[in-house]
Amino acid sequence: MTTTADYTEKIPNNVNLHEDRRLQRALESWQPNFIQWWQTMGPTLPTQDVYLRTAVNVGRDGWAQFGHVAMPEYRWGIFLAERDPGRTVGFGEHKGEPVWAKVPGEYRAELQRLIVIQGDTEPASVEQQRNLGATAPSLYDLRNLFQVNVEEGRHLWAMVYLLHAYFGREGREEAEELLHRNSGSLDSPRILGAFNEETPDWLSFFMFTYFTDRDGKYQLGTLKESAFDPLSRTCEFMLKEEAHHMMVGTTGVDRIVQRTVEVMREHDTDDVGGLGAIPLPVIQKYLNFHYSVSLDLFGGETSTNVANYYTAGLKGRWLEDRRKDDHKLTSDAIMVDALSEDANGELSIGQTEVSALVGLNTDLRREYIADCQGGVKRWNRILEEGGVRQRLKLPHVAFNRKVGAFAAIEATPDGEKIPAQEWERRRGDWLPADVDKTYVRSLMQPVHQRGKIAAWIAPPRNGINGQPFDYDYVHLA
Ligand SMILES: [Fe+2]
Ligand SMILES: [Fe+2]
Repeated sequence: MTTTADYTEKIPNNVNLHEDRRLQRALESWQPNFIQWWQTMGPTLPTQDVYLRTAVNVGRDGWAQFGHVAMPEYRWGIFLAERDPGRTVGFGEHKGEPVWAKVPGEYRAELQRLIVIQGDTEPASVEQQRNLGATAPSLYDLRNLFQVNVEEGRHLWAMVYLLHAYFGREGREEAEELLHRNSGSLDSPRILGAFNEETPDWLSFFMFTYFTDRDGKYQLGTLKESAFDPLSRTCEFMLKEEAHHMMVGTTGVDRIVQRTVEVMREHDTDDVGGLGAIPLPVIQKYLNFHYSVSLDLFGGETSTNVANYYTAGLKGRWLEDRRKDDHKLTSDAIMVDALSEDANGELSIGQTEVSALVGLNTDLRREYIADCQGGVKRWNRILEEGGVRQRLKLPHVAFNRKVGAFAAIEATPDGEKIPAQEWERRRGDWLPADVDKTYVRSLMQPVHQRGKIAAWIAPPRNGINGQPFDYDYVHLA
């Protein structure tokens, strides 16, 4: 195993692809389909080149190289984190055994399913974001959008490599399907709901990269624990790239909040709607939306499938090796969210105890929620330092849910259960209403001049790779 990527090959890789001619040919014949997909479903804004990072090795330091690249010529490749020869299974019934270099026959279907579901989200976000270039608030932001897009494209490559290399004909068919399904398509939509929502403006983009990409981080974190070693190593390297996507979301919302505070203070008003900034209540509504649809991505509170994945060693917990228990969980319990019913058949929001294995989705969702609190804390610090009394907050876990125990009810952001009619009447107070979306969209005028920025967002503190904000990050066509 080499750590340095081989860029002399048609498909850059660090998996010695040239040693397996059949696999190499199969992937080389998938490659034009990928490029075709990128051209038809990828970014719509014509560019000459973009200042992008490309992975060159998977080592701890200096794994990426930066330079201006014409996007269709970006070197999408296959990079797995280095193999740890002594690695053993960290959890489940195979705990302590050597990890698997191949797919065990008895887990083939489950592993393929997990890889396809992860793989499906990667190109989906590129499709969702394809028109955003036309309204970028600065060349810096435009460059970040494209960086996220090419890396999500690379994550698709990561999953397609596994499908081709380890799952035979079925795997190759699934790899084709990953290019045929499309976000929001009526006939063949993407598998998960949040990946069929549109990302029509940059507030949505930053909320998406904060909340929905962060779901991706947690899913990859569980797959990184997998006993199927190639999956583990793929996810480990993907997580490195994801860190930038999180940064784009976190600082994007920072800068919007910052600008809103500035305008509030400058004009001594809470109502910055007519003043070119995004009012805090609108930011809160977008937050409510993206957070609640992202909670749904973790699935139901209980799942016997996920219990089986864990016991089999396919999918672990977030930071499995830091958990102080037996990593088998056969006799542990967990409280999960649930609806409880009183004697009159009246439902209320509560909790119930289940076996820890069955409650693993809840465990992961809670880790995610704790992480999301970090963003809110940071944005509230900006409000506080700006001398503004309002605060942002995460809505209650029962709010606006379509998956899990609370899908059956309606609840306010404070977690009060309300009748359906009241929800219909008040939902526009909590989720982006047409008027909010129209206003946000009206602000989305492109700023494509070097060193300039739109009025609704503050400039970033730092540029990319030590470059200044007014660097020529993108050359438009
Ligand atoms: Fe990704
Ligand atoms: Fe991502």
